[in-house]
Amino acid sequence: MVKRQDSTLRNSICAKLMEARERTLLLVSPLSDEDLRVQHDPLMSPILWDLGHIAHFEELWLTRNLSGKIEFSEMPGMYNPFEHPRATRAALPLPSLHALIHTAAEIRTDTLAALESADLQSTHPLLAGGFVYNMVLQHEYQHNETILQTLQLKSGEPYRAPRAISAPPGGSDAFDRMVRIDAGEYRIGTDDRAAAYDNERPQHSVSGTAFEIDAAPVTNAAYEQFIADGGYERPELWSDDGRAWLADSGARAPRHWTASNDGWTSRTMDVVAPIAPDHPVCHVCYHEADAYARWADKRLPTEQEWEIAASWNSATSSCQRFPWGDADPTALHANVDQLFFGTAPIGAFEQNVSPLGCYGMIGDVWEWTSSDFTGYPGFAAYPYPEYSEAFFGTDYKVLRGGSWATRPGAIRNTFRNWDYPIRRQIFSGFRCARDV
Ligand SMILES: [Fe+2]
Repeated sequence: MVKRQDSTLRNSICAKLMEARERTLLLVSPLSDEDLRVQHDPLMSPILWDLGHIAHFEELWLTRNLSGKIEFSEMPGMYNPFEHPRATRAALPLPSLHALIHTAAEIRTDTLAALESADLQSTHPLLAGGFVYNMVLQHEYQHNETILQTLQLKSGEPYRAPRAISAPPGGSDAFDRMVRIDAGEYRIGTDDRAAAYDNERPQHSVSGTAFEIDAAPVTNAAYEQFIADGGYERPELWSDDGRAWLADSGARAPRHWTASNDGWTSRTMDVVAPIAPDHPVCHVCYHEADAYARWADKRLPTEQEWEIAASWNSATSSCQRFPWGDADPTALHANVDQLFFGTAPIGAFEQNVSPLGCYGMIGDVWEWTSSDFTGYPGFAAYPYPEYSEAFFGTDYKVLRGGSWATRPGAIRNTFRNWDYPIRRQIFSGFRCARDV
């Protein structure tokens, strides 16, 4: 029986590893050698670096460290992100795509050989439940989204995305509604050790006062009203840091928006179109989200509030893994997985509603929260402090929920992303909250 379970898990890991690589290669397939090699934006790595880093991360964790004796927590050499900060990566002697694909295939052969003899029944936390395999898969998925951020910022000809389908129509009355969440004891986080990252653990009780949260993310139409009402010109709406960013950036609209005589247009990859009023606003930084919230007489939710709204099921007094339940996201649940390379109208995914009545908490856009990125009570770094602990503090704000560019295996209600409050390269939007 154990043998059969083992081989099912092995086969499933193997299939997921192959599928992840297929997607990575599909995403970069329209790109020229030059596009792969140059640094399109100082914030992003040359895409060849991402590809080499993905392969060598796999080598590090699925061969070298697989015994559980962690020799290195980051790979030695030019793909080590700490030794080679982003700004310096274009100067590295990166190999050709052809050579990289060859190296990645050799690494994969070793990975699969090691998987054959890996003890998947081990109680060692690295192997138990296939944790290290899930970690490496999620790493590749996350770099897929990073690559898409780079491609949105691409210099030269815009990226022609391998779109498969177009977004379903919307249809929701969620736009202006807020959902009331009563004061009480809730739980957030998870004790899952098979797929969750260290920063999502442990599950713990939180008590909160009553609040209201937007039933849907802030739309382009609503954000346009903020702009039209002078939102970017009214200092009282901005925090001190927000005002400094505003002065520095000169921003007057979300990134990739352009004003024309007929109103605003926005660009997603190679598609420039009038802004879709019923889509969530995308490519705003934390400061813009914060100023909008103040303008709307609201505030950003804390990540605790966000997670309660996404996951709490009062009927069972427990947390769900996703707004719709525990089933992994598919194309029926939410706008994730790069289905149509852009946001979808609010209401396009009927099942994407949490038990408390919030729409679209998974997919479309990452949502800024007001929370700094810190460890939960009882946090323990695993398997290496550089994954999250190194970033704890007041420099970063937490984003939740994943975007259209997030692969389904790299998102769940408990997943925590983080970035600097000035960043707009993320596929980021927000929803607001207020006290009651
Ligand atoms: Fe990485």
